Amino acid sequence: MALQLAVCVSGGGSNLQSLIDAVEDGRLDADIRLVFSNRPGAGGLDRAKRHGIPSLALSHKEFSRQAFDRAMADAIAEAGADTVALAGFMRLLTPAFLKRFPDRVVNIHPALLPAFPGADGQGDAAAYGVTLAGCTVHFVDEKVDHGPIIIQAAVPAYPGEGRDALQPRILELEHRVFPQALQWLSQGRLELRGRHVALRGAGTRPTLDAQGGFMVHPPLEPGF
Ligand code: GRF
Repeated sequence: MALQLAVCVSGGGSNLQSLIDAVEDGRLDADIRLVFSNRPGAGGLDRAKRHGIPSLALSHKEFSRQAFDRAMADAIAEAGADTVALAGFMRLLTPAFLKRFPDRVVNIHPALLPAFPGADGQGDAAAYGVTLAGCTVHFVDEKVDHGPIIIQAAVPAYPGEGRDALQPRILELEHRVFPQALQWLSQGRLELRGRHVALRGAGTRPTLDAQGGFMVHPPLEPGF
């Protein structure tokens, strides 16, 4: 059954765009019921409008943390969504919010968790001098960038490279793995077993691309 999805953004929304594109070209079986932002000027809101998707911005500065999460959860539920995709949403959610959508909140993070959680995964990885960087899609729990991992993709990082060089290489893969992870959720193929996420019917070999220099596991399916 199609996911009834709310996508939450704080910034430009390129990940939101990758979800919209995947829905529009039939790779992702989802109905985006709402694009929500905590920043009234977020570029993601314009993307929603361009695609005729309902959108709502509430500034978190005008609420207590609990009241903000309550208003956000109410708006998502009223829009008819039961699944929440955090696509560059720069806020930690309260336990009360997560209880409203149990095991239905998914985040994309631009680092290979558990390394480099927090607001600047790419910058922290570049500064640390890693030789492999990447991104992670995971279920959200009460801790920052911590919940069970659905998929990860790794890209090379080169000596002397700063955040700005690394970020686009990671982002390109974010745009592939996030729609893929949500499509698996839509297909009911993700099974939570404690910290582990089992993917039913998964291929056995990671997607490797020597040319573009990346590795993804579980493997991407055709179209992603
Ligand atoms: C992405 O790198 C995402 O992983 C991180 O914030 C960035 C948002 O980019 N959490 P965009 O707004 O989707 O373009």
